[in-house]
Amino acid sequence: MKENEINKFLLGVKHPGKGDKSIVELGMVDSVEIGENRVCVTLSFPRRKDPLTDYLIGATRAALYQNMPEGTEIEVKTVIREESKPKPTGLALGVEELTNVSHIIGIASGKGGVGKSTVAVNLAVALARQGFRVGLADADVYGPSVPLMTGTEGRTPEVIEEDGKQLMLPIEKFGVKWMSIGYFAAPGQALIWRGPMATNALKQMILQVRWGVLDYLLIDMPPGTGDIHITLVQDIPMEAAIIVTTPQNVALADVTKGVDMFRSEKINRRIIGLVENMSWFTPAELPENKYFIFGKGGGEAMSRQFGIPLIGQIPLVQSICEDGDAGTPAALSSGPDGEAFLALAARVVSEI
Ligand SMILES: Nc1ncnc2c1ncn2[C@@H]1O[C@H](COP(=O)(O)OP(=O)(O)OP(=O)(O)O)[C@@H](O)[C@H]1O
Ligand SMILES: [Mg+2]
Repeated sequence: MKENEINKFLLGVKHPGKGDKSIVELGMVDSVEIGENRVCVTLSFPRRKDPLTDYLIGATRAALYQNMPEGTEIEVKTVIREESKPKPTGLALGVEELTNVSHIIGIASGKGGVGKSTVAVNLAVALARQGFRVGLADADVYGPSVPLMTGTEGRTPEVIEEDGKQLMLPIEKFGVKWMSIGYFAAPGQALIWRGPMATNALKQMILQVRWGVLDYLLIDMPPGTGDIHITLVQDIPMEAAIIVTTPQNVALADVTKGVDMFRSEKINRRIIGLVENMSWFTPAELPENKYFIFGKGGGEAMSRQFGIPLIGQIPLVQSICEDGDAGTPAALSSGPDGEAFLALAARVVSEI
């Protein structure tokens, strides 16, 4: 009889307090001693008075009796191994907070001003309206726009201490958890960072946050394709990205940069799709009319060229801009702007 065979029997001993994981998977089998006609298993417990100790000793004994040859002497002992608490070491601390987040998706664009933040904020609200648990981290440390777009400027995230580490609680509104460096700066104050500081601040906005359980964590990435993006994607378990563009021909070069970045060896992340923003202009008084002021079919052409699906087309409507400035995202409305974001959210869910 070998130790791995004994471990196989012990896989059948489930810990009812730990989602029915086995004592082997939980690392509770401290040692297995095998002698002639004798086996002794030592189970480790993190604390002295684990209420399940007796139950687990009994279950382990039963599993061994069932599987060992008759007449084998069976002993089950216990040992206390207190869990060593990790010492606070700064940034990396909050990382495990992300283990409760199912999908981390970056919202990116090759260049600034195409409506990336507008799409990110409204996609978050639309996903929340569809019943998902959603968070959004504003990773644009140079020009954070989430506080304004959500009407949460002036609010300050609470900082809590948990197991010796400091975590920020996101601001909750519209059913979404928001975090932005903008909450820590006076309104209108320019944020000037030197390289590594910017990267650290940005990582903090994502990693040192008590997100809790989330279906989707969206990251509004800074515009462009620089070092900061590479660090961001490498240090954060980002699953995939969405690229936002406008329909003009000139946008193609920027989208190419964005696509190349995500497909590069260093980053290598899935691109869920392209979102074409400002696809057409629709005046409020003529909601059925579409004016293709930036040209027609640009998004589709890019989608074909890169082999990436076009997952959303957002019209240029005055209300999207006004709602952004007023802090009430368009995705809350029932008009064509709200519909466009709800459709985008549904598509993102199906693609994921
Ligand atoms: N579909 C739209 N209809 C009307 N206005 C829009 C639309 N999309 C974006 N805007 C407006 O355009 C401006 C730029 O949008 P936004 O801030 O979302 O772009 P961005 O790509 O995040 O910019 P930056 O690169 O500065 O982060 C904002 O004032 C926004 O309200
Ligand atoms: Mg932005």
